[in-house]
Amino acid sequence: MVKSHQIVITGASGFVARNLRKYLSEKNIKLISISRNDFKQFKNELKIISINYDEKILLPKIQNSDAIIHLIGIGTQSIKTDYDLVNVEFTKHIVNLSKKAKINKFIFTSGLGVSPNTSLGYFISKYKAERLIVNSGLNYTIFRPSYIVGKDDLFTKYLKKQIKKGKIEIPGSGTYTIQPIYINDVVKVFLQSVLQTKFRNKIIDLVGPDYITFEQYVKLFSKGTKTSIKKINLEDVYHTAITDSKSDFGVDDLNILIASFKGNHNKLRKITKMKFQSVIELLKSGRLL
Ligand SMILES: NC(=O)c1ccc[n+]([C@@H]2O[C@H](COP(=O)([O-])OP(=O)(O)OC[C@H]3O[C@@H](n4cnc5c(N)ncnc54)[C@H](OP(=O)(O)O)[C@@H]3O)[C@@H](O)[C@H]2O)c1
Repeated sequence: MVKSHQIVITGASGFVARNLRKYLSEKNIKLISISRNDFKQFKNELKIISINYDEKILLPKIQNSDAIIHLIGIGTQSIKTDYDLVNVEFTKHIVNLSKKAKINKFIFTSGLGVSPNTSLGYFISKYKAERLIVNSGLNYTIFRPSYIVGKDDLFTKYLKKQIKKGKIEIPGSGTYTIQPIYINDVVKVFLQSVLQTKFRNKIIDLVGPDYITFEQYVKLFSKGTKTSIKKINLEDVYHTAITDSKSDFGVDDLNILIASFKGNHNKLRKITKMKFQSVIELLKSGRLL
């Protein structure tokens, strides 16, 4: 299928990128994958390791690719790295590179809840990145994902670790909701957005069919294991998040969780004509464990 396509992927060793590269490679798409770190190559894949995504190194290699899927992003800040640097300035750099390399299709993952009215630093940076892309003149598709789940995302790994210890801690009441989407569906949507013109210049929520409270999610995830679930005072969790940049939940993870954002799944279903995996069913099947 679609043998002649060539796609550039940034942030290649991240969770979404790893799963996407595997899927695209299996579809015989030619890949140019860029990361700061070494990583295992898939079939049909050119590996580029570059810390600063240096134009001189990258430009000759990515020239005239069909699309770029820009997956670099951070969701927590520290004194070493901040939203402006990574989410905004790096996106500006990649947009400029794409223009110079004459790559006309730009795909970006923003965040569910991003809007011109937001007051959250993380969303402000994603919003600014979105505007850079929209105003670039490139053909773009911007996705605003809720929580993307798979076997190897950070949160799933965190829950598995907690299960081994026999106790999962929930920040606050756990009654806030998420609208998770399965990574195996996400990678299919990305390929469609490269191949089909109907995705041109669209901003689309990347959300699954179910809303589920955080507590329900954790209960279903740990079903059948001998794990106790403990609710932790939200103020204490925030205090840890504010004072330790390596805490399990970052300040903005908590902000986003308790905001209970809801996205438009119907729009995604209509444009993709896909049947999406119910994450509730996925959890019940135990396939994420
Ligand atoms: N996963 C979700 O549920 C979710 C939800 C909403 C939005 N998103 C967005 O989707 C994108 C991919 O998410 P993900 O879950 O795959 O995240 P991830 O696993 O953290 O991957 C992000 C990648 O960004 C690159 N990166 C981070 N800091 C960088 C820096 N200073 N310079 C250059 N590259 C840097 C890294 O790539 P290398 O290590 O390969 O260099 C990293 O692996 C991100 O933009 C994220 O904000 C994800």
